[in-house]
Amino acid sequence: MAKNVGILAMDIYFPPTCVQQEALEAHDGASKGKYTIGLGQECMAFCSEVEDVISMSLTAVTNLLEKYKIDPKQIGRLEVGSETVIDKSKSIKTFLMQIFEKFGNTDIEGVDSTNACYGGTAALFNCVNWVESSSWDGRYGLVVCTDSAVYAEGPARPTGGAAAVVMLVGPDAPVAFESKLRGSHMSHAYDFYKPNLASEYPVVDGKLSQTCYLMALDTCYKCLCSKYEKLEGKQFSLSNADYFMFHSPYNKLVQKSFARLLFNDFMRNASSVDEAAKEKLGPFSTLSGDESYQSRDLEKVSQQLAKPLYDAKVQPSTLIPKQVGNMYTASLYAALASLIHNKHSELDGKRVVLFSYGSGLTATMFSLKLSEGHHPFSLSNILSVMNVAGKLKSRHEFPPEKFVEVMKLMEHRYGAKDFVTSKDSSLLAPGTYYLTEVDSMYRRFYAKKPADATTCENGSLANGH
Ligand SMILES: CC(C)(COP(=O)(O)OP(=O)(O)OC[C@H]1O[C@@H](n2cnc3c(N)ncnc32)[C@H](O)[C@@H]1OP(=O)(O)O)[C@@H](O)C(=O)NCCC(=O)NCCS
Repeated sequence: MAKNVGILAMDIYFPPTCVQQEALEAHDGASKGKYTIGLGQECMAFCSEVEDVISMSLTAVTNLLEKYKIDPKQIGRLEVGSETVIDKSKSIKTFLMQIFEKFGNTDIEGVDSTNACYGGTAALFNCVNWVESSSWDGRYGLVVCTDSAVYAEGPARPTGGAAAVVMLVGPDAPVAFESKLRGSHMSHAYDFYKPNLASEYPVVDGKLSQTCYLMALDTCYKCLCSKYEKLEGKQFSLSNADYFMFHSPYNKLVQKSFARLLFNDFMRNASSVDEAAKEKLGPFSTLSGDESYQSRDLEKVSQQLAKPLYDAKVQPSTLIPKQVGNMYTASLYAALASLIHNKHSELDGKRVVLFSYGSGLTATMFSLKLSEGHHPFSLSNILSVMNVAGKLKSRHEFPPEKFVEVMKLMEHRYGAKDFVTSKDSSLLAPGTYYLTEVDSMYRRFYAKKPADATTCENGSLANGH
């Protein structure tokens, strides 16, 4: 059986178009600090009319294959996680097959996985399980998490975002799964769902979603702890992992989640927390489960107590989710990209615990072991390929009015046919795919901005050739 299966290589793509949360806050008439401090968000990326989940994933997959010099014939499984419905039958995976058909490779298993923000994790597990299984043929798995998170005008709108993350899966990975350390919780809830097929916007009960998320977190953590304890014969607590990462609809929920894990440690084994925590959490030990989710005092006290540990174990993974927003299926893996970006040289031998949540609801907590690896599949190479700082720096900030205008146009375009886009790729990086047309039979067409283009307007090359 293949050993140390996990992520060999990864890349992230997010649209260059974004809006500052501080500006959006003022534009929406929200009180100052509500989006930035209250939700903990800094900036939000969004797709303009020339980008969508298919173009973003075409770009991300092409970039990964090129930058890590992977022969497209070496891909044996391609799995996509997404909740952005463009077609109720045809998978996003089939669009991506255009990349591989050119090289004569159509022998690639896998389709799309969908359940809110969890689809990317399902896709990743499918690939890891395949490589670990008897049906593995020795080739790589490829996972794409791609979403455009948009909300109707109102309180949920600042919790949007957009990105595609792509991960190459195989044995002897620098980001390896500890496959026995997984705890899941799956159940039925109407916290966030998309029943209106004529609209891209979800129906969301934000408060319920937060409680569902925290309940799922508790259950998954207990499950992971008890599996660890069976395997290792000793208790698991926050001290047994170096970093914790969470699916991030908005950063405040990540802060609350980590604090909740500290409360879990206290309730499971008070000796695993320090004296100050014992004393301050003591008064909450008699709360019922339900009461504990509603207690503002508990939330406040546990967040204060967890703050130093949060800064050390969580904060390094929050950069992209705060800067780009909720990327749905890509959010958790953008957290991993952030950790590699911020801590690359300190990660050898470290354990990272991840919490994946998809409304509806499906959730898993799982563990990864990191090592530097060997070029090209090394953490330092992943760091340089992703170029997170460069991508963040080269974005174009839109004023909120312009963002709202784009949202209106996208509402109109959702599910529409027979239109051509502006084909304006001037804001896109060279090598980026973009949408040019949806014809009278709803067929979608994409073009690629030339890799050597300096400026490109209306789809025409303007680099001197
Ligand atoms: C998260 C969400 C519920 C917040 O909307 P809201 O009800 O208008 O926001 P609230 O009034 O609760 O304010 C949000 C936070 O900002 C705080 N806040 C409000 N105004 C503030 C200000 N001026 N300065 C600082 N903080 C402020 C609130 O106290 C609250 O923090 P808390 O949760 O720690 O109490 C909403 O954005 C939403 O539904 N988003 C979708 C999330 C989702 O479900 N995603 C997918 C599922 S994972």
